[in-house]
Amino acid sequence: MRSPSPALWGLERRGGELWLDGVSLPALAREHGTPLYAASANRLRARAAGLLGALRAYPRRSRVAFSYKTNLVAGVLQVLHAAGLGAEVVNGYELWLARRLGVAPEDIVMNGPAKTEAEIAAAVEAGVGLLVMDGLPEIERVAAEAERQGRRVRVGLRLCPDVVPRGMNSSSLTGSRRNQFGLDLQGGELGAALARLARAPRLELTALQAHVGSGIHDLAAFRRTASRLLDALAEARARGFSPSCLDLGGGLGTPASREFTTLELLTYLGTGRLPRRLTPGPQDLLARYGQVLAEAAVSGALQRDLPLPELVLEPGRALVSDAQVLLLGVGAVRERPGVGRFALTDGGAMSTSLMFLSELHAVLLANREAAPDGRTSVFGRVPSPMDLVYRNLPLPRLAPGDLLAVMDAGAYFTSTASNFGGPRPPVLLLDGGQTRVVRRRERFEDLARVEEALEGLEPP
Ligand SMILES: Cc1ncc(COP(=O)(O)O)c(C=O)c1O
Repeated sequence: MRSPSPALWGLERRGGELWLDGVSLPALAREHGTPLYAASANRLRARAAGLLGALRAYPRRSRVAFSYKTNLVAGVLQVLHAAGLGAEVVNGYELWLARRLGVAPEDIVMNGPAKTEAEIAAAVEAGVGLLVMDGLPEIERVAAEAERQGRRVRVGLRLCPDVVPRGMNSSSLTGSRRNQFGLDLQGGELGAALARLARAPRLELTALQAHVGSGIHDLAAFRRTASRLLDALAEARARGFSPSCLDLGGGLGTPASREFTTLELLTYLGTGRLPRRLTPGPQDLLARYGQVLAEAAVSGALQRDLPLPELVLEPGRALVSDAQVLLLGVGAVRERPGVGRFALTDGGAMSTSLMFLSELHAVLLANREAAPDGRTSVFGRVPSPMDLVYRNLPLPRLAPGDLLAVMDAGAYFTSTASNFGGPRPPVLLLDGGQTRVVRRRERFEDLARVEEALEGLEPP
């Protein structure tokens, strides 16, 4: 796999070092230590503006709610909210955080395939803009809670459109009948849901929703999803409901990284062979996506003689992935004659991102410029072969002290990082040449705070 040019991420080389937004990445690493994540506020704003701009041509209202779980760092979320995005939340903590960050309740979409009673109660009490229900029993539970609190609730129904985008592995698919999400359209569950909703006067059916995967480059999959949702909208109207919104979920990929295909994933996990090339897709992917959705909604509504629906989108990855980089320090390099080279860094899949195991990201040498020289398998520090960055990456010959930049580290990296390898890394926000620590590096005390058994023990 050859790495694309650093310019794809707005990076430049100065004296061999990689710079982002006027900041030297090696200097950041020296000052703050590694591993660390660095996010570019300007790139976050540009992505948000790109999508909002593409939707502006849509003749009805459209709303974009950022998928919190993609990057749950408060300082990053603040930039996105200031750029005009709402919040899509999937659990009680995310809902709490959105409220804490000052997001207006009507700008919050609450999802989640198996909400707890407490989460339903909190969403109803907050008066979220859309509470998307998944499964028939959840309608029962939301109706009961609305009754208990005496409130009207704007609800959505998550549907399973049975759409499988091309070029994905099964770990990132969510919209096929083989997945656990949404009402089964083929199994007649929409009819059953509408029948139940007809007896729930406090629930106002506002939207039909689907989310078919993550890291999607196949825009036709979004067209098919819109079409299935519009069929369902027509069915709901025929049954006397008037849902005004199509919620098309998230799922768009990002230009310079991608999911492994199923075959690539099997080959890679089984043999360690990486796909040969990471070919960057079009840079205007977000704008094209916005256009495709708008066109699909307009033409689909016309064909079915439906009023044009409002659009709700819940993107995560496409807004943040290529606005953040993960810096890893190389601690040791080993070579086994006849076998290969290994580099041990301070972060692998088990401490900085599970995503290394199913997605292909570019990895650049950040502290000096050198030509690729053979292949190196890059690991983290956890003594487990699963603590991988990547096997067999074409890289320059590495030495202890080198710095690697893992690109497209803004989506699902901070949120899947674990403490298996120790305290988790900090997140630095680069904004106009200034650097702000928006999440500090975890300390031992942070990890120990929940250990009740340590209460009363004298510190060493
Ligand atoms: C319901 C829902 N909406 C939105 C998203 C965001 O997806 P993505 O980051 O691929 O845009 C997800 C991610 O899994 C999701 O489950």
